[in-house]
Amino acid sequence: MSSQREDDLIHTFNGITFTMRSSPELLKSLNTFDAREDDVLLVSYPKSGTHWLAEIIMHLYASKVALTSPIEFGDLSKLDQLNCLSCKRIIPTHLDGNMLPTTFTLKQCKAIYIIRNPKDIAVSMYHYYRENPNLPTIDSWPNFLERFLKGDVVCGSWFNHILSWEKHRDDKNTLFLYYEDMKRDLPKVVKKVSFFLGLNTSESGIGEICKKSSFSEMKSNTEKENSDPNRTVCALTSNRKLIFRKGAVGDWKNHFTPKQNRMFEETFSKKMKVSEVAKHLVYEL
Ligand code: A3P
Repeated sequence: MSSQREDDLIHTFNGITFTMRSSPELLKSLNTFDAREDDVLLVSYPKSGTHWLAEIIMHLYASKVALTSPIEFGDLSKLDQLNCLSCKRIIPTHLDGNMLPTTFTLKQCKAIYIIRNPKDIAVSMYHYYRENPNLPTIDSWPNFLERFLKGDVVCGSWFNHILSWEKHRDDKNTLFLYYEDMKRDLPKVVKKVSFFLGLNTSESGIGEICKKSSFSEMKSNTEKENSDPNRTVCALTSNRKLIFRKGAVGDWKNHFTPKQNRMFEETFSKKMKVSEVAKHLVYEL
């Protein structure tokens, strides 16, 4: 990665890399944010299936709520913009658990955290870096993987992200979902989300939502639209066309060499020893 380009595109806050689209002033002021009891947080490390889950949530609420852009995306005016919304807010974020404005915890807001196996995330993020003009140029997959394992990528270390949110695993207002479970049995996961949000969605409603949120449906809808600058729930781009690539479990096998896989496993077992969440990760279906 060329350092000149990196300096223009990214900055570090609290030891975590952010793009310039998350201004340092906004990040500094996050803790002044006034959460409301009925806010719902949609939490993820990038490339975990955030848009998929956002689509499902919006269908569950029949679009009668506001899906905002990520709380960390924008400049200082962001918090006022969010405050101006009078309806229920679904607020996405890629923030590390330790950076979450404290009022979300104090007001016991519901949070849904979507997890995906980190090998597929690394591959998805690698392609995202290559396509996304807001991210620094990367020279090769082996170098990117090394940086991913060190946490030297936007939004910091996947390992730390999981661990920082895992503290909330037993909170009754937090729901952890796995991307791979959604691939395996989407109706079951949609029902779980509906129940968690206190919604009473019919069986036929669940079926409809599953159809509307399939990868092919979401990808083709996005290609039909003329790119709307406010349509992503990822703080790293507003171009929705960059989101829908393969939507598969196990694409990592097309990228990892056996040596890279061993290196990954080594780092994983060191970092995730204490993690319960990590025990349930699935790498192929
Ligand atoms: P790939 O790059 O592996 O294809 P996020 O929304 O958090 O940015 O995550 C993007 C990843 O989720 C991409 O992974 C994308 O293809 C996948 N994705 C988006 N919508 C999906 C869907 N409806 N079904 C399955 N995967 C989906």
